[in-house]
Amino acid sequence: MLVGVILLMEIIISGIRFGADGLSMDYYMMTCPFAEAIVKNKVNIALQSDPALAAGLLRMHFHDCFIEGCDASILIDSTKDNKAEKDSPANLSLRGYEFIDDAKEELEKQCPGVVSCADIVAMAARDAVFFAGGPIYDIPNGRKDGRRSKIEDTRNLPPPFFNSSQLITMFRQHGFTVQEMVVLSGAHTLGVARCSSFKFRLNNFDSTHDVDPSLDSDFAKTLSKTCSAGDDAEQPFDMTRNNFDNAYFNALQRKAGVLISDQTLYANPNTRGIVNGYALNPAMFFFDFQRAMVKMSLLDVKEGSKGEVRLNCRKIN
Ligand code: HEM
Repeated sequence: MLVGVILLMEIIISGIRFGADGLSMDYYMMTCPFAEAIVKNKVNIALQSDPALAAGLLRMHFHDCFIEGCDASILIDSTKDNKAEKDSPANLSLRGYEFIDDAKEELEKQCPGVVSCADIVAMAARDAVFFAGGPIYDIPNGRKDGRRSKIEDTRNLPPPFFNSSQLITMFRQHGFTVQEMVVLSGAHTLGVARCSSFKFRLNNFDSTHDVDPSLDSDFAKTLSKTCSAGDDAEQPFDMTRNNFDNAYFNALQRKAGVLISDQTLYANPNTRGIVNGYALNPAMFFFDFQRAMVKMSLLDVKEGSKGEVRLNCRKIN
């Protein structure tokens, strides 16, 4: 019990420590006191009928934060003059937009013009992790919504064929350590990849190998079987696709990582020790994950007049 309380305090304090100016833990206390509860409740209900939504919400937050910061730029619809981020090939399989619309509608009814779409995305990802069985943690709020969403910006999302060094470089550009990159990749404990994201591992891999040599041969057969149903066929990242656990890291140890960017974390000696640590110790995975998520949720956050509170998450005001 005491250990639990201490852990919770540490989690909350670590959140405060990462807080950027203008954001705070009790940001909506006076203006929309039930904002957090409304989002949490909606996530809970939505996951009961569609557990796969947890993965969608978590990935949406990542794709939002890595492009233009956590400013809900991912939610903006394309117009005749502007192709938006969400229409990039890297985002076509994102899910959860309707959920965010729904949560926003409810919040607009309760407290019009107060709660930003960027905060809703961040809270929903946090709550999705919790209801999927992952760590509980608090995040500061007060992110403003951005006014720019351009398809070309999404070239800064990591592609599934990146190796460990490329991932390290890209995450470093966003201020993350090697360990934070590995622990955030542990988000792949939830959800699936489509065949189109990994099929190049299975045929004509390189000049000397037909199949990616970092892939277990039985698992390669599993992936091929999945792909026999077409490019959009879904392959779970681990055996418990809707449970937030450390099975993803165990899969990497068995050479059963789905993407090159997953298996490389075990194949590369610079990151293998970190994978082994999380495979052995789920509590450490949870603890490091929530810290890294708080940090990610603060990437290039827009404050004050640098952004707005969108009335409709799909359109700038
Ligand atoms: C390390 C670099 C990463 C790469 C290269 C990567 C790439 C991918 C790819 C290719 C997919 C499958 C898309 C598809 O085939 O439809 C995917 C799914 C997913 N990614 Fe990542 N990702 C990375 C990091 C992250 C991070 C940091 C998070 C969140 C913190 C995340 C969360 C997810 C989730 C939850 C899914 C499953 C989505 C679903 O089932 O709807 N990923 N990722």
